[in-house]
Amino acid sequence: MIENIHSVVLQSEKVGILHLYINMIRKFYKSILALAVVVSIAFSHATAQDSTSTAAAAPAGGGDVAKGEELFKNNCAQCHAVTAEVVVGPGLAGLEERRDYAWIKKWINNPMGVIASGDKYANDLYTKFNKTQMTAFGAFGDNEVKAILAYVKSAGAAPAAAAAPASGAAPAAATETGGGKFINVILVSLLVIMGLVLVALLGILQLLNRLSGAESGEASLSFGEKLQANLKNIAANKTVRSAIVWAFILLATKATFDGMYGIGVHQGYAPKQPISFSHKLHAGEMKINCAYCHTGVYKGKQSGIPSANICMNCHNAIKRESPEIQKIYAAIENNKPIEWVRVHNLPDLAYFNHAQHTNVGGLECKNCHGEIEKMEVVQQRSSLTMGWCIDCHRKTEVNGKDNGYYTKLMEAHNAVSKGAMKVQDNGGLECAKCHY
Ligand code: HEC
Ligand code: HEC
Ligand code: HEC
Ligand code: HEC
Ligand code: HEC
Ligand code: HEC
Repeated sequence: MIENIHSVVLQSEKVGILHLYINMIRKFYKSILALAVVVSIAFSHATAQDSTSTAAAAPAGGGDVAKGEELFKNNCAQCHAVTAEVVVGPGLAGLEERRDYAWIKKWINNPMGVIASGDKYANDLYTKFNKTQMTAFGAFGDNEVKAILAYVKSAGAAPAAAAAPASGAAPAAATETGGGKFINVILVSLLVIMGLVLVALLGILQLLNRLSGAESGEASLSFGEKLQANLKNIAANKTVRSAIVWAFILLATKATFDGMYGIGVHQGYAPKQPISFSHKLHAGEMKINCAYCHTGVYKGKQSGIPSANICMNCHNAIKRESPEIQKIYAAIENNKPIEWVRVHNLPDLAYFNHAQHTNVGGLECKNCHGEIEKMEVVQQRSSLTMGWCIDCHRKTEVNGKDNGYYTKLMEAHNAVSKGAMKVQDNGGLECAKCHY
């Protein structure tokens, strides 16, 4: 009798402890579940971003499209389109059908070298493009060239490739080198580990439930009912709810930062001007020299925008009756300048000098502005970011022609270094050169 009572007490104590364990494990199970939800949201966000940046990717030989896009926009876009359209140089659509990879790489590294080697294709092209010299990109290795080709291919075929983005995204993702991949690997491993822990916990829970005899109640529920109860539990769980709120806050912050990095970059900006002045007509067809209107471009910091008086040199006689020309007269009569909308505009913290680049550096307007003489409305072709300035300073050789000052500097440079003297070797990367 006494023994019987004893064993019942023991039994109920055991059951009490079992319930304690069950509760603890349930809580643990729920927090892991909550974490898994957060991690999957983060992961789906990360992969969604990947596939937007590499969507429409049909990489050629494993080039990285996103990187290619950046390289192309910073270095080639002012002279080449990804379509067949001619800008300064030929459109690059179908390039890989015309030329093999080895030729393309050699050309990009040293176009004048290929021309000088007597290559017929190159010489014909050079003549066709009025002997316009393409900038050399000697520092581009296979990675860069392949990335650019992959981008050209995907962007040129964008509408067609967009239909099957998934197939392209995978190989592109595999070769991506950025930090994004690393995070994805961590997230996936976390998810797998959490999945395993969840399965193990479920097993333990079931075992304990059976031991405590509590399963009898739940066993009568169908699988669907159990699932429903579980989902309700999850939705009601505080941890899950705060996890979702946090996930939202994190994503919103990230979106804000992404947006902020884009602020101040106006590549492609082409505002409507108060008078429909056409560079295509004046600089292109009539071949008026740029410096005739932009008088400061070879001698000063600013190119300057011409005053109405310069227009009057011709328009006091030409097209007097045109309503657009009447606007010039109105400006002069009212003694008010024409309010041209500024297109290119660096922030005040940066110092840029035209004469240093056009006169001393021997660069052409189109190296930075694209083919203005073909534009009806001026458009900003380069990004004008700090990375863009630095990039060019890294790879452009200092122009030492007819410049006594540089002759000595170059001799000194050549004595200690094999490569040609680049702008960076002359202080072109020093903060103070570009920042007040
Ligand atoms: C300053 C203008 C300019 C820039 C910048 C420029 N190119 Fe060119 N490119 C040309 C011109 C002009 C030609 C035509 C040949 C010539 O006149 O030298 C050309 C020709 C080519 C060709 C041969 C095209 C064909 O149809 O066979 C390729 C390939 C090419 N460029 C790739 C590039 C790449 C890639 C970049 C950027 C990394 C680039 N170019 C940057 C002006 C430029
Ligand atoms: C007949 C006078 C005239 C000639 C020639 C001319 N421009 Fe202009 N340019 C203007 C006027 C006026 C504006 C301002 C209105 C506009 O943006 O279209 C301007 C604007 C510009 C801008 C944009 C300025 C900004 O706000 O950022 C650039 C860049 C430019 N010109 C480059 C050139 C180049 C390069 C050439 C030679 C190929 C050239 N221009 C020839 C009159 C001229
Ligand atoms: C070197 C002479 C010259 C200068 C300088 C010049 N233009 Fe012109 N412009 C012309 C000629 C020529 C035409 C074409 C007339 C025609 O279509 O027959 C023209 C056409 C135009 C037109 C088109 C008019 C229309 O209704 O078809 C506008 C607008 C114009 N110019 C604005 C300007 C402005 C603004 C300036 C000053 C920034 C300027 N031009 C400077 C020679 C000049
Ligand atoms: C090395 C690159 C580079 C070259 C080469 C270059 N520009 Fe510019 N240009 C710029 C930048 C950067 C700005 C914006 C400057 C600013 O906001 O202070 C600019 C601005 C301008 C403007 C707007 C007014 C001003 O002076 O800020 C005009 C007009 C202009 N450029 C004309 C020309 C002409 C014409 C040539 C060729 C003779 C030329 N540029 C060559 C980079 C260049
Ligand atoms: C297309 C190539 C190119 C781009 C783009 C370019 N630069 Fe330059 N820059 C040069 C070259 C070439 C020189 C060397 C001129 C020389 O002294 O021979 C130079 C020189 C300079 C110098 C003088 C450096 C020294 O050591 O004396 C400054 C400052 C400068 N650049 C600022 C800028 C800024 C700011 C930007 C961007 C808004 C910019 N550059 C964009 C090619 C470029
Ligand atoms: C060749 C010219 C050049 C050199 C060298 C240079 N910068 Fe810049 N920097 C720029 C230009 C142009 C901008 C503005 C472009 C923009 O807003 O994207 C800029 C912007 C910045 C900004 C503001 C960024 C922002 O988002 O507003 C900072 C900070 C900066 N530079 C720091 C530096 C430091 C530090 C160095 C030296 C290690 C340096 N820069 C060297 C050209 C240069």
